[in-house]
Amino acid sequence: MNMELHDLRINYGKSSIPDGKLHDNPLDWFGDWLSEALSASLNEANAMVLSTVSDKGMPSSRVVLLKAFDERGLLFFTNYNSRKGQHIALNPAASILFFWPELERQIRIEGLIQQADPAISDEYFYSRPVESRISAAVSPQSRIVPSRSSLEQMYQNFMADHPEGEFKRPAHWGGYWLSPNMIEFWQGRRNRLHDRIQYRRIGNGWEKCRLAP
Ligand SMILES: Cc1cc2nc3c(=O)[nH]c(=O)nc-3n(C[C@H](O)[C@H](O)[C@H](O)COP(=O)(O)O)c2cc1C
Repeated sequence: MNMELHDLRINYGKSSIPDGKLHDNPLDWFGDWLSEALSASLNEANAMVLSTVSDKGMPSSRVVLLKAFDERGLLFFTNYNSRKGQHIALNPAASILFFWPELERQIRIEGLIQQADPAISDEYFYSRPVESRISAAVSPQSRIVPSRSSLEQMYQNFMADHPEGEFKRPAHWGGYWLSPNMIEFWQGRRNRLHDRIQYRRIGNGWEKCRLAP
């Protein structure tokens, strides 16, 4: 066994989730924790691990950036033809994970994904710097490309074809909402006796319980 890893152990104790302080709506709670992560100036506090499942049942995880959340769920943007896009098209079930080590917090979210309204994708696409828009337009995300220089060439060719930097959002790029049906808040506590509060969507409301760590 690798002894350096073996001996790594942090005793958590920055915060707690007392029984009397449980929100009724986990989305309010998620908003509070996200605001705290943003105000703590964590690196990429809105980065989340998105896991999707292939048609053969093989899970796959990658980081994407949360761009909004409200009663519809959590919004992120990507290439609809990417590997994750192909998974979602066949199986909308997915999970999201936030880990904010500086706050000793984890949030696990499970739910179903659907494409965002084109107007939402347009609004975000046109708000991005032109360089990011070009990359979104030219990158065949998740496909094999022959070389780094071929990618650069695609970028340069696109720029040459659109010298004004004006072009439409490509249909293959846009937003997805993950609508949660499970949200779990984890707060590290002393002696590995952590707090875990889980919410499950029941009809229009939420049922909550405490889970053993
Ligand atoms: C910090 C960070 C943020 C990222 N944000 C996004 C994002 O918002 N959208 C996206 O499509 N890929 C994003 N990526 C790249 C993905 O992790 C992934 O490489 C890409 O989406 C292709 O995944 P796929 O082949 O599973 O579809 C990000 C990666 C990192 C490390």
